[in-house]
Amino acid sequence: MRMVDIIEKKRDGGELNPEEIEFAISGYTRGDIPDYQMAALTMAIFFRDMSPAERAELTMAMVRSGDQIDLSGIEGIKVDKHSTGGVGDTTTLVLAPLVASVGVPVAKMSGRGLGHTGGTIDKLESIPGFHVEIDNSTFNDLVNRNKVAVVGQSGNLTPADKKLYALRDVTATVNSIPLIASSIMSKKIASGANAIVLDVKTGSGAFMKDIEAARELARAMMEIGNSVGRRTVAILSDMSQPLGYAVGNALEVKEAINTLRGQGPKDLEELCLVLGSEMVYLGGKADSPKAARAMLLESIRSGRALETFRTFICAQGGDPSVVEHPDQLPTAPYQIEIKAQECGDVSSIQADAIGTAAMLLGAGRATKDSVIDLAVGIVLVRKVGDSVERGDTLAVLHSNTKQAEEVVRRVQAAYAISSQKVSAPSLLYKL
Ligand code: URA
Ligand code: CA
Repeated sequence: MRMVDIIEKKRDGGELNPEEIEFAISGYTRGDIPDYQMAALTMAIFFRDMSPAERAELTMAMVRSGDQIDLSGIEGIKVDKHSTGGVGDTTTLVLAPLVASVGVPVAKMSGRGLGHTGGTIDKLESIPGFHVEIDNSTFNDLVNRNKVAVVGQSGNLTPADKKLYALRDVTATVNSIPLIASSIMSKKIASGANAIVLDVKTGSGAFMKDIEAARELARAMMEIGNSVGRRTVAILSDMSQPLGYAVGNALEVKEAINTLRGQGPKDLEELCLVLGSEMVYLGGKADSPKAARAMLLESIRSGRALETFRTFICAQGGDPSVVEHPDQLPTAPYQIEIKAQECGDVSSIQADAIGTAAMLLGAGRATKDSVIDLAVGIVLVRKVGDSVERGDTLAVLHSNTKQAEEVVRRVQAAYAISSQKVSAPSLLYKL
């Protein structure tokens, strides 16, 4: 087999067979196929697209390129959730204990944040003592005992995807549905999940800003998952403004604790209930997502969800007293209020701009090696659809410096206020 023939076939609109896809991906991973040939193939895929069968083959070829996590030592159906990334997206912190509290095992492998989106591990590490460096057998034991544990990414998962993503990044081929869908799904499948719930976000803070593109991506990922034997469900959710109020590590932990108490922001709570219902249903603990939702609500009401969070924190070395005393989480020395310059209704809050502002305060990493400040971030006070008077507080910066003019300016600019009546955007969209 020759790579040049594979490129030519795809260039001319042909359908690659499983052997050709395996040849290209395994050869590229080993270094036998050079970047320029793979770049030509990805560009041909960009223009010619891939059939459902090709997408599934590409995904599995990337899964086979590296280690695959074996979760078979954990009892039950392992359901993973994946979000395509957003700003102030506190859902994993809430969902992991919430879903575990009704008996669905959550064996979560998470990453650190980069750029304007935060990582679940960074958020959890704002709890004093909490750590994610646990070995495989401890991880399995914890999930069997408590139904939930979170571990940092380790091992050599999907090296083909890492190499391909870096290549796509510099050859203008990131933005291709078959390539994005196979990239995301290969990582989830290699992580060992039996079933997958996808939270595909759309809007200014999302990877897919456009709703139609987000919908197409969601469908493509569901089709891949279901065709390779992993039951996969997708939800389309709004990321035109940050989710909940808090953006920042310790601030989001506080928000998650409030949500597990039933006192969190309504949008965050609703998204957690919708995603959690699908997880519990796929996990075989309820006959329908509707029945699952009732179980989750009851778990919040009875305090069991919060108790599961406490147990989970404790088991990984964290100080559980933060649940009763969130003031023991890292706190920033300065709180700077951002005031409305005019009256009217908040018509938009650019989520990516808020994410970047939080990063500039120190909540996120500009580069892979940046050190982050777990205490800092932004708490929104007003969201889209709220009415404000001139001088009302729009948001509060939690800062480690008094001199935050640049961030103040950016947050102010992220808010648009209209003299027309504005209603809150929908949280969920039809798939
Ligand atoms: N996120 C991924 O993991 N892969 C892509 O290709 C795009 C976004
Ligand atoms: Ca939030």
